[in-house]
Amino acid sequence: MPPAIGKESDMRDAYGRDFSYLRLSVTDVCNFSCSYCLPDGFVKKPGPGFLSLDEIRRLATAFAALGMWKIRITGGEPSLRRDFLKIIQVLKSVNGVKTLATTTNGYKLEQKAQIWRDAGLDAINISIDSLDASTFHQLTGHDRLAEVMNGVEACLAAGYKSVKVNAVLLKGVNDQDLDLFLDFIKSRPISVRFIELMRTGDNAEYFKRYHLAASKISDQLQALGWVQKSREAGAGPAQEYVHGEFTGRIGLIAPYSKDFCTSCNRLRVSARGNLHLCLFSENGISMRHLLQCDSQIPALQAFVRQSLGYKKVSHFLHEGFSGSTQKLADIGG
Ligand code: 5AD
Ligand code: SF4
Repeated sequence: MPPAIGKESDMRDAYGRDFSYLRLSVTDVCNFSCSYCLPDGFVKKPGPGFLSLDEIRRLATAFAALGMWKIRITGGEPSLRRDFLKIIQVLKSVNGVKTLATTTNGYKLEQKAQIWRDAGLDAINISIDSLDASTFHQLTGHDRLAEVMNGVEACLAAGYKSVKVNAVLLKGVNDQDLDLFLDFIKSRPISVRFIELMRTGDNAEYFKRYHLAASKISDQLQALGWVQKSREAGAGPAQEYVHGEFTGRIGLIAPYSKDFCTSCNRLRVSARGNLHLCLFSENGISMRHLLQCDSQIPALQAFVRQSLGYKKVSHFLHEGFSGSTQKLADIGG
């Protein structure tokens, strides 16, 4: 018999953490060239192709039956997959998937927001590092802030359960932009999340120059009367702040903070079907051989549960360790 959906102990690790949230990458390809991620744009690597629709369905079926009820489709830029709409439909139809989300750079969002919502997408995160058009252009290589902002409005109109904007905090680049972001969420139900820049294999120099602790923002927020909220079940890693005069919220994602890993509830799968127990774990564990037919689903589940036993207590980033991840476009952030 398959394990009961949502039974917590099915996906509990050696440190007592339960895993309910799967971040599934469907492509490494991205059309933006964010300075901290793909400064030279996407370069194709040799190797097997990305997961097929059938492989994605099997994978999600196995993970959802183990109790992973939230799936985020990531990339690269996931919407560059020609079958992206089908991916949404397939994932949404998997038994046990309660919340289906994606993270996008906002490209074509204006045209697609309603179509994706109608296909079953519940929640959307849009990466916007700056609300200043020229800074946005400089950071992403694309002069498209206005277009992306229209996409955000289209998401609000389409009735998503959650609309969030992600901004990577960059010293001297967008750390003076808090006021712009606050104006933006004054009367919009949007959560803006500032993410601390993470050091990856490819960006050591960049990291040294631009990394800024999220405490810089929390200090400003507290001075302005924002109050920190407690964390909800299945929530991402953000510390959330609210304010009575604002419809929107602010979240801070601080992977370098002391207890960041204690509340870890997520696993990642790369676009080629490797299980990553941590964003920064040494190597992905290949599962592709167990995704080839429906009858392999129980074996895949056993494999995943066994692999979870190897999950470490922390990412050890404090010790200057950045793991094997070269850039986040490789494994979906
Ligand atoms: N540090 C922090 N965030 C990053 N992202 C990509 N690379 C990094 C990094 N080195 C973010 C993107 C996007 C999300 C998928 O990951 O800006 O919001
Ligand atoms: Fe593309 Fe996201 Fe990387 Fe920017 S951060 S280059 S949008 S994958």
